[in-house]
Amino acid sequence: MSDFSLFSTFHLGPLELRNRTVMAPLTRSRATPEGIPTALMEAYYAQRAGAGLIVSEGVVVSPQGVAYPRVPGLYNDEQVEAWRRVTRAVHEQGGVIFAQLWHVGRQSHSSVQPDGLPPFAPSPVRIENYRYYRKPDRLPYETPRQLSREGIRKVIDQYAQAAARAMAAGFDGVEIHAANGYLIDQFLNSGSNQRTDEYGGSPANRARFLHQLLDAVATHVPPSRVGVRLSPSSTWMDALDEDKTALHSHVVAALNRHGLAYLHLVEPEIAGSTTAEIAEDAVPTEKLAALFRGPVIVTGEHDLASAEQRLADGVADLVGFGRTFIANPDLPERLRTGSPLNPPEKRTFYAGGAEGYITYPSLAEEDRWAQLRAAIEEGTISAAAHLEQLSSRTPLDLVRSGELHSLHQLRELVATYSTVS
Ligand SMILES: Cc1cc2nc3c(=O)[nH]c(=O)nc-3n(C[C@H](O)[C@H](O)[C@H](O)COP(=O)(O)O)c2cc1C
Repeated sequence: MSDFSLFSTFHLGPLELRNRTVMAPLTRSRATPEGIPTALMEAYYAQRAGAGLIVSEGVVVSPQGVAYPRVPGLYNDEQVEAWRRVTRAVHEQGGVIFAQLWHVGRQSHSSVQPDGLPPFAPSPVRIENYRYYRKPDRLPYETPRQLSREGIRKVIDQYAQAAARAMAAGFDGVEIHAANGYLIDQFLNSGSNQRTDEYGGSPANRARFLHQLLDAVATHVPPSRVGVRLSPSSTWMDALDEDKTALHSHVVAALNRHGLAYLHLVEPEIAGSTTAEIAEDAVPTEKLAALFRGPVIVTGEHDLASAEQRLADGVADLVGFGRTFIANPDLPERLRTGSPLNPPEKRTFYAGGAEGYITYPSLAEEDRWAQLRAAIEEGTISAAAHLEQLSSRTPLDLVRSGELHSLHQLRELVATYSTVS
């Protein structure tokens, strides 16, 4: 295997990563309605600690920054306490985890804003080509309220406070979510930023919000522990700009002055959370990666071969996997050993609950379950008694012992027996 192998170690600033796979940020809607991380989340992230780096799901920096239910936050002490349990569980398994800091801007809706008014954005330009999903409705987006200069200062401070809280919660660093048409991307793109002050106009002015925010975050977190995520080619959620190449070439080159841990680029074939046709004005990942003087992560539609190719070509140092990490908690191990991959089930992406969240098995759990099942079939072990014993333990405890998958398989088995008999 070459030195560029996905399975070689990597020094990310002060951190030693055990391989070059990254678990991409994935919103899974398993927090409480108050945005507090749950015990399910501890188990889920601990299961995936074999990644070189985990980037957490988007974590909102304020109650105004939210669009969807059960998304976690980092704006109060209770959230910090609960995240501490998640980061501890990941560290205990030898993993490294960054918090992705998120504010959705105009992708929010008055129905989830604390004051019941339309959300905040750089300019009062609403999203026309998409709908806001509020179960079971698809509603038109609203014309957002324009952030005043004072409002901008407040939001920047919320990011800085959330970054400080992330470190207090035991995260190894933070990733600033400047992708996918959310607030920072709304400042970057001319379609959503029509300001005439120092935050609008030229690419340099439109990037001012991101730079000021990074400076503010740097007062709490060393830049060697701060990454930035961009989706330069995506037009999802009306992320429209008259010249994406010029804009992002400027942004990436200008990011060099911050001395960041990494730049995280979403590949052109990704629109938000799905694969789509490459946009007409797509910006080649190679072009932007070459402008950045630091580690680069690329994410989007990668498998082992394409990931290794990105490393061998010198385009990326690390490769992110999203949907395949949802379905394969031990993805690096499966890739390394050429084992089959579990397919992701879209139905459970945001469904809440354990199913499709912590129930995908690792290879080791599949083995354990096969042994347990054989013992049940031989009559050495009672399925119902074993289920009762496993049910009394916490999901994290079951992750530690490699028996989480058995619990869910046993539940199905016992339910089937009881309906049959
Ligand atoms: C269920 C789901 C949730 C996602 N949530 C986030 C998120 O919170 N933040 C983010 O930057 N990207 C998010 N994404 C995008 C992924 O990080 C990634 O860019 C995308 O899935 C493409 O990678 P893949 O082809 O390996 O899945 C999400 C994607 C999916 C499928």
